[in-house]
Amino acid sequence: MLHYRRAALGGLRQRPLLGSPGSLLILEHCVSCNPAASSRVRLPARSAHGSQLLSTCYRKGAVPVLSAFSNDIAIDLGTSNTLVYMKGKGVVVREPSIVAINKKTDKVEAVGKEAKEMLGRTPGHIVAVRPLKDGVIADFEVTEQMLSYFIRRVHNRRFLVRPRIIIGVPSGITKVEERAVRDTAYRAKASEVYLLEEAMSAAIGAGLPITEPSGNLIVDIGGGTTDVAVISMAGIVYSRSIRVGGNELDEALINYIKRNYNLLIGERTAENIKMELGSAYPLEQELDLEIKGRDLIEGVPKTVTVTDREIREALSEPISTIVDAVRMALERTPPELSADFVDKGIVLTGGGALIRNLDVRLREETGVPVTITEDPLSTVVLGVGRVLDDIDLLRRVCLP
Ligand SMILES: Nc1ncnc2c1ncn2[C@@H]1O[C@H](COP(=O)(O)OP(=O)(O)OP(=O)(O)O)[C@@H](O)[C@H]1O
Ligand SMILES: [Mg+2]
Repeated sequence: MLHYRRAALGGLRQRPLLGSPGSLLILEHCVSCNPAASSRVRLPARSAHGSQLLSTCYRKGAVPVLSAFSNDIAIDLGTSNTLVYMKGKGVVVREPSIVAINKKTDKVEAVGKEAKEMLGRTPGHIVAVRPLKDGVIADFEVTEQMLSYFIRRVHNRRFLVRPRIIIGVPSGITKVEERAVRDTAYRAKASEVYLLEEAMSAAIGAGLPITEPSGNLIVDIGGGTTDVAVISMAGIVYSRSIRVGGNELDEALINYIKRNYNLLIGERTAENIKMELGSAYPLEQELDLEIKGRDLIEGVPKTVTVTDREIREALSEPISTIVDAVRMALERTPPELSADFVDKGIVLTGGGALIRNLDVRLREETGVPVTITEDPLSTVVLGVGRVLDDIDLLRRVCLP
């Protein structure tokens, strides 16, 4: 069965393709089915409209070309942040993956930034939920609500739009988890869903020459996971995903402050401290910061001052785990490819790449040059977006 790249009705291109029975259709065959051909067919007299004819034409396993003026979108469904990219528009959504739900009415009160503001500050009947944990969906229903909300938002609330969606998923995702992501996107009104490993998306987004026969080492430090992967010739030669990322660093900080200062701080305060003071290697100039929390013994609000050295100590364990994962990738890579790293180095991305001097620490410990991508928080979605634009690449890199 052929599938068609483009169809025109009476010279006028339409999507979906509508036409009265018996009208003439000009179909350009998909390049993978029949490279040079195009043909004219008459709509079967019984067919109500042409789109029915077209929809039966997709070969099983064949990837249809995404239309140049489509509503198709690329999504980085991250533990901390969800980003949506639309062709021709760039990144159109960049929001925390958080949903606030009213338990009395079961209604969504807020999504994204607005919901994040509510974290730890809601009355009893409103809960702020992070539907993803460790890079995978922990709460399907809430993820679906969040995805639907973002899809509706980018399509200006035109409810009938059913976009094709490509989603970046963590490397090492299980088949069951894969199924769950696909189902969630379909229920959120996608017409077709493709999955792409995040490490591959990050490498593409970073502009690495992934289709060449040379080694590319990419390290994506997200909120829930750190993905380390070696990519060559559009394939993943080695990959490992550890469930240590920015959130683990925040938790390490909460515990450290509790242990050393008897001070209880919230998730958002911990994240702010990490961003302001967090480092993986001594800084040239020392920093300190006042932090506020609740005294565990007295039960009253209290302020203490912490230094970058203390915060480095607090973060040292999870950061060492990340560094070890990178070292292991270097050890496990076939020698011909690892020789490439000497010149090309390691590419760091994801929000965690912004921790001060993490690149310096990795360089010290591995002896290999390290670079950070231009916009680490957007690299994955930009990579998925590029695949949206390039059908050949999509066919080569998306998960079967
Ligand atoms: N300047 C910064 N310094 C340190 N950490 C940062 C900085 N900016 C963001 N982060 C951290 O990066 C993490 C979010 O990164 P990112 O958006 O890449 O994760 P994600 O893609 O949502 O998660 P995952 O890929 O694990 O599903 C958060 O833990 C956040 O605290
Ligand atoms: Mg990510």
